[in-house]
Amino acid sequence: MRFCVKPGGCLQGRLRVPGDKSISHRSIMLGALAEGVTEVTGFLEGEDALATLNAFRRMGVGIQGPDHGRVTIQGVGMHGLRAPGGPLDLGNSGTSMRLLCGLLAGQGFEVTLTGDSSLSGRPMRRVTDPLAQMGADIETTAAGTAPLIIHPVDRLRGIDYRLPVASAQIKSCLLLAGLYAAGETSVTEPAPTRDHTERMMSGFGYEVRRRGPRVSLTGGGRLRACKLDVPADISSAAFFLVGASIAGGSDLTLEHLGINPTRVGVINILRAMGADIEIMNERDAGGEPVADLRIRSSRLKGIRIPEDQVPLAIDEFPALFVAAACAEGETVLTGAEELRVKESDRIQVMADGLAALGVDARPTPDGMVIRGGRIRGGTVASHGDHRIAMAFAMAGLRADGEITITDCANVNTSFPGFVPLAAGAGLAITDAS
Ligand code: S3P
Repeated sequence: MRFCVKPGGCLQGRLRVPGDKSISHRSIMLGALAEGVTEVTGFLEGEDALATLNAFRRMGVGIQGPDHGRVTIQGVGMHGLRAPGGPLDLGNSGTSMRLLCGLLAGQGFEVTLTGDSSLSGRPMRRVTDPLAQMGADIETTAAGTAPLIIHPVDRLRGIDYRLPVASAQIKSCLLLAGLYAAGETSVTEPAPTRDHTERMMSGFGYEVRRRGPRVSLTGGGRLRACKLDVPADISSAAFFLVGASIAGGSDLTLEHLGINPTRVGVINILRAMGADIEIMNERDAGGEPVADLRIRSSRLKGIRIPEDQVPLAIDEFPALFVAAACAEGETVLTGAEELRVKESDRIQVMADGLAALGVDARPTPDGMVIRGGRIRGGTVASHGDHRIAMAFAMAGLRADGEITITDCANVNTSFPGFVPLAAGAGLAITDAS
């Protein structure tokens, strides 16, 4: 599938982007392990979250939906999962694979996790190494990648682990394994990362302790079913935050958006660049802060992005690079080498795409230097990376020719309905296969 975006236009009106991907994954995982029936609203009906949902169905969990974001999960309790009849295919979803690896390490059955070509190239030793310290028995390829074969073991034991990279996936993987481990499992993070797992475990009645950068729990407890309202995903909203900021005449309101403090790097960075973002109606949705955001266009200026914002905006850099291409002066990103091991190498793929549109973008080992200026029309390869495709779609708002983006089908992993929603707000986008 390819996107064609005609130049110009602006973004206006009110809209709600789909549900948060990270929270949707976790709602299925904890709902499945809980005692009782968990009811979820606002669930993301994208391929990644559905990969998690289908994996639990294959392990014997009764799940109704999704139907307009409603999912009902008949929890089987901590020890109620059953061996699936074959490998669990997790598609493009790194979150499914890394979190499930921890959750399944302490089960009494063997299970194999597979994924598509992108996921099969992503590093998994970052989870299998600490899980091995907990006593898990997991095979990877010689390159440390999927397929992952998880063999049953007698009992995991808790560890006190210092994360070598700021990663919520590793932290969550170990906390999920810790539910099945003897004693205490602690994870210390080098910088704050998204804390949805900890919040949701507490919501399910499981005691999670946080002291500074260290999160701990004791294995052997139980989860109690609850109701969950998944807020709109700030990572999906990011494309609209950038689009409305760069396109003159824009005035857009995004409704019921998750603004968890561990996810708001994109707001902080755009505001530092001069964006006009108003946060309205702040409220709580089942343990997660939400708000409506109003964005009006503004003149952006280049900045040096503070490194402490990087983990808080880790999925938003494709969009932020487009903002930088429209800003006056130079934007410098450092400390973001993790971008090289996402669904694609987001530093190289974005630099190549920006260069194809005539933008002065210089990749560095751990970031990028972008000088804002004119964006020309042209063809950009998204390399099957959903966020690259959506970021370049927004570049059309400021381009002086048509932009074609190739290999866009994976937009459905995180943002089903992106094209009609963006078109309805004013982006001149169409898709074609
Ligand atoms: C996620 C954590 C991040 C993020 C990913 C979702 C999560 O990955 O990039 O899209 O739900 O925990 P890392 O932990 O690898 O940074």
